[in-house]
Amino acid sequence: MADSLNLNKTGNTSDASPDSADVLIVGGGIAGLSLALRLAEHTDVTLLAKDNLGEGSSLYAQGGIAAVLDLREDNFESHVDDTLRAGAGLCHVETVRQVVSEGPAIIAWLAELGVPFTENAPPDEGAPAYHLTREGGHSHRRVVHAADATGRAITKTLAERVRAHPRIRVQQDQIAIDLITSHKLGWSGPNRCVGLYVYDKASGTVSTLSARFLVLATGGASKAYLYTSNPDTSTGDGIAMAWRAGCRVANMEFVQFHPTCLYHPKAKSFLISEAVRGEGGVLKLPDGTRFMPNHDPRAELAPRDIVARAIDYEMKRGGFDCVYLDISHRPPAFVREHFPNIYARCLEFGYDITREPIPVVPAAHYTCGGVMTDLQGATDLEGLYAIGECAFTGLHGANRLASNSLLECLVYGHAAADDILSKLGPQSPRLPLPPWDESRVTDADEQVVVSHNWDELRRTMWDYVGIVRTNKRLARAQHRIRLLRDEIREYYTNFKVGNDLLELRNLVMVAELIVRCALARTESRGLHYSRDYPHTDTQHAPQDTVLTPANFAGAALPPGRNTRVAGEPR
Ligand code: FAD
Ligand code: SIN
Repeated sequence: MADSLNLNKTGNTSDASPDSADVLIVGGGIAGLSLALRLAEHTDVTLLAKDNLGEGSSLYAQGGIAAVLDLREDNFESHVDDTLRAGAGLCHVETVRQVVSEGPAIIAWLAELGVPFTENAPPDEGAPAYHLTREGGHSHRRVVHAADATGRAITKTLAERVRAHPRIRVQQDQIAIDLITSHKLGWSGPNRCVGLYVYDKASGTVSTLSARFLVLATGGASKAYLYTSNPDTSTGDGIAMAWRAGCRVANMEFVQFHPTCLYHPKAKSFLISEAVRGEGGVLKLPDGTRFMPNHDPRAELAPRDIVARAIDYEMKRGGFDCVYLDISHRPPAFVREHFPNIYARCLEFGYDITREPIPVVPAAHYTCGGVMTDLQGATDLEGLYAIGECAFTGLHGANRLASNSLLECLVYGHAAADDILSKLGPQSPRLPLPPWDESRVTDADEQVVVSHNWDELRRTMWDYVGIVRTNKRLARAQHRIRLLRDEIREYYTNFKVGNDLLELRNLVMVAELIVRCALARTESRGLHYSRDYPHTDTQHAPQDTVLTPANFAGAALPPGRNTRVAGEPR
């Protein structure tokens, strides 16, 4: 991606792998960073990131964080209702209430740490301190932001604090490969996560790390698609690792496509924030006709699934390469002030958004499903937590409401910290873990196998498992993905691991999970639209699609919570 946090690599960053940690966090996005800071108030923490600290989707978040701050206009029930409505019947109400109610405290915590949120100017009597923008599906202005680069402002603030913290050890350029469980090692007692294999990008070696508590904060899986708003880190590693370790995964069919990414061959799917529509931007066909009012009475501010599907429909109907987003009717100074980064980036590509419309297309943006957790972020496997985009908490249902993701990352960063701290207790002696075995592998012979399969997988997902699906296309995708999976498995078994191979192995696994979930859902709901089942099933209670691995860890999750199970997937 073009952007980068450029934090220096000094401080408490260590390039040497320690071999044990009380709490090991995998992922340095907003979920992992906020968890590390909370934990470090009481204990030592190790945080791994496979790239520079802070590189991940969090860094590129634009619109902001949804939180009920203007109690003159807004209220918590309204945020809950909007989340439930967008989620199309599948949100877990308890989770929604938990996350929504924490919004104001989270914003206060971030502000205290120094996040420079855009203020209301001039401050108006009784108005909240911060400017609130509006996004699709929200019935009020409630999105707190730092101009149009909210993720960068938060990530930078948290990452600087993490780097300076004496109790947090940061290790960059380390790719977690697989979780180590007690049962895999043949130990008796309940199955538990005891550590991790980690690949060091600089030396090409693999080390073993033991941990009492391990938290996956590895982000989403949108790189499974050819076109995505996400950075290269979003390869579903945590979801794939948890699944291989025996954790259940749910609702992977709900892949959110953001309606408006810049359409330009060199832009690598640069996002044009929904806040542009929130501040009056309208969507147009190439001939200048506005089309959203024909699709939904909320027009450009309908939830994302509806807007993305409408654009897909219009592009296919008219044979267009893109549609256009126009905010040029707003005063140029307003546009430049509210969207300084979008304005500058579009200008680099030759578009002055204060004078002309922006060419846009939808792209894969967010993974609503993930590793099943409870309200503290605990997974099926004892000692293992999952937070942020890699987790399935039940918040998003069949379609995430805009700007609810950063909020979820932060709420669960804090909830998981509290839970882990309550269980940490005195140190117990740790048994040694076996080293990584490379005795039967050789150096990779044909790197082209990895690059070819990488491209083929992402194109298959884009063509057959996109915004509009059919049984036939899904079956085709499943067939191809299984061939790719077997080829990659063979390659992984025979050759030494490397960055691309590890990510491809995870991508093909999450692609398979997405297709399995999509095939299991015999209705259209939220982000999952099937031409074979165009209607929402109103005869039965809405159900999550829960996939259970053959080596299911056994439900460490409390019964009755987040365990509404869908029919066995085909
Ligand atoms: P990420 O921020 O993606 O971080 C994942 C971390 O895990 C990275 O540090 C990565 O290096 C590390 N990692 C991954 N795999 C491994 C591995 N195997 N080993 C070691 N480390 C690993 N949401 C909102 O609420 N509001 C917005 O305005 C908004 N705008 C967005 C704009 C864009 C362009 C994008 C892409 C997303 C946006 N989202 C927004 C969604 C939101 O940014 C993400 O869902 C959220 O930031 C995810 O945070 P995370 O910490 O879970 O993961
Ligand atoms: C955006 O700014 O449009 C992204 C918001 C989000 O993904 O929640």
